[in-house]
Amino acid sequence: MAAPVTKGQELELRIDSLAYGGNGVARRDGFVVFVKRGLPGDLVRAQVTKVKKGYAEAFRTQLLEPGASRVEPRCPHFGECGGCRFQDLAYEAQLEAKVDQVRESLRRLGDIADPPMEAAIPADEIYGYRNKLEFSFTQTDDGPDLGFHRAGRWDEVLGIAACHIASDTVNSIRAAVRDWARSTGLSVYDQREHVGYLRHLLVREGRNTGQALVVLVTGPGDLRGREELVATLQQFPEVKSIHWGVNEGQSEITGVPTKLLWGTEWIEEEILGLRYRLRPGAFLQTNTSMAEKLYEVAIDFADLKGGETVYDLYCGIGTISLTLASKALTVWGIEVVEEAVACALENAELNGVSNIGFFAGNVGQVLDELRQRAGAPDLVVVDPPRAGLAGKGLRRLAALQSPRIVYVSCNPTTLAGDLKVLCGEAGYNLLRVKPVDMFPHTPHVECVALLELDPERSLAAQAARAGIAVGDTASSTTDDDSPDAPGQD
Ligand SMILES: C[S@@+](CC[C@H](N)C(=O)[O-])C[C@H]1O[C@@H](n2cnc3c(N)ncnc32)[C@H](O)[C@@H]1O
Repeated sequence: MAAPVTKGQELELRIDSLAYGGNGVARRDGFVVFVKRGLPGDLVRAQVTKVKKGYAEAFRTQLLEPGASRVEPRCPHFGECGGCRFQDLAYEAQLEAKVDQVRESLRRLGDIADPPMEAAIPADEIYGYRNKLEFSFTQTDDGPDLGFHRAGRWDEVLGIAACHIASDTVNSIRAAVRDWARSTGLSVYDQREHVGYLRHLLVREGRNTGQALVVLVTGPGDLRGREELVATLQQFPEVKSIHWGVNEGQSEITGVPTKLLWGTEWIEEEILGLRYRLRPGAFLQTNTSMAEKLYEVAIDFADLKGGETVYDLYCGIGTISLTLASKALTVWGIEVVEEAVACALENAELNGVSNIGFFAGNVGQVLDELRQRAGAPDLVVVDPPRAGLAGKGLRRLAALQSPRIVYVSCNPTTLAGDLKVLCGEAGYNLLRVKPVDMFPHTPHVECVALLELDPERSLAAQAARAGIAVGDTASSTTDDDSPDAPGQD
């Protein structure tokens, strides 16, 4: 259909729902218009910014009539700060929108007509839930400040008074480090000009252990005021580990090698009764209590009886592997980041878990080797990054023909694309899907899906019908040897 709108045009629109990613969805003569800062039920005036073949994009210029689910945002920086897009939408409506997005993704992108959706698990805390915060330094008239990027700006940082999804401890640490920075006279890194010294502050918390780890990231050069920084942070009984990282490049990363300034190399976190060592760069779900709920869903879906061989693909520091180990015969994890594998091995030892093994490598490349070494799995758990299983990882998983798969996903659109293949040519049935909300006020949603191999549609059954050996089916014939790039988590 020809677009009934033009770029620059002002429209009056009623928002029907929220699209994945967070824009409001409205229709003009059936034609979809995605409206930035439009919430369900709103009547808005919006200016069209882009017109594409099947849809247009617009920016809300005026709120004519607020939708019934609008609420007053708690944070004074709401709208200016690039985080927390939905603090102005009632939490129940946020959750409903996320569940709708999962269902719609599975229908539209996964070709699953009637997804077996189960009730979502809401977040237990909608504020103060994040256990990891990365602040950027910014220069203000009062001296250095710490905050987050302004909405839509890569080069501007907004100093904040407090972050409402961080804990009180983290907000106090941020304020103390800001005051220390002001006392040192050190310069702030300018992301446009690439000059200056102070770059980032990273704070991680073990919420169940009451421990905190702090990393100060600077440009190259001596850290003036280092003793004062340590003394400042030692005032917080939670702080057990203080690191300094130097970013010599221009890109804005916090995952740089670090040097210990004081305390222990790591802190510990406890999840479902197991201890984990948390180093500056190790991946850990950023909402501890909801990570426990997510893993409990995975345990429920896994339904282990004790004699199973389990693979945990994309295992990070081994949290899911270790959680399942006491319920299975053996668990094997695969993870591409070698440092994370080292942590996983260390965590297994720390918890006295011995029926477990970890492989460093790209799932698409080492899955066959694992099968040769460990034997065929009874269950495969996958927890890939946002990009999903992608390319060879997906083909290898499909070819493995594990009787059951538990898919933990942080992106319903890539989950849907992967399910299309697994429930299509690979012969699986989708039995259960449960959304878990780990990140209130953001567009992100996790979900757990359970798949079971259909004996009538498995690759073996397909091959038998076609009169060919299983190894000759799609799995191996379509593979090339190029590795898939590891995704982002
Ligand atoms: C969403 S995290 C899940 C980690 C873990 N299951 C947890 O709950 O903490 C995804 C993990 O996949 C890893 N990864 C990304 N691409 C990979 C690949 N191609 N092969 C193996 N691991 C990969 C990342 O390093 C990251 O640790």
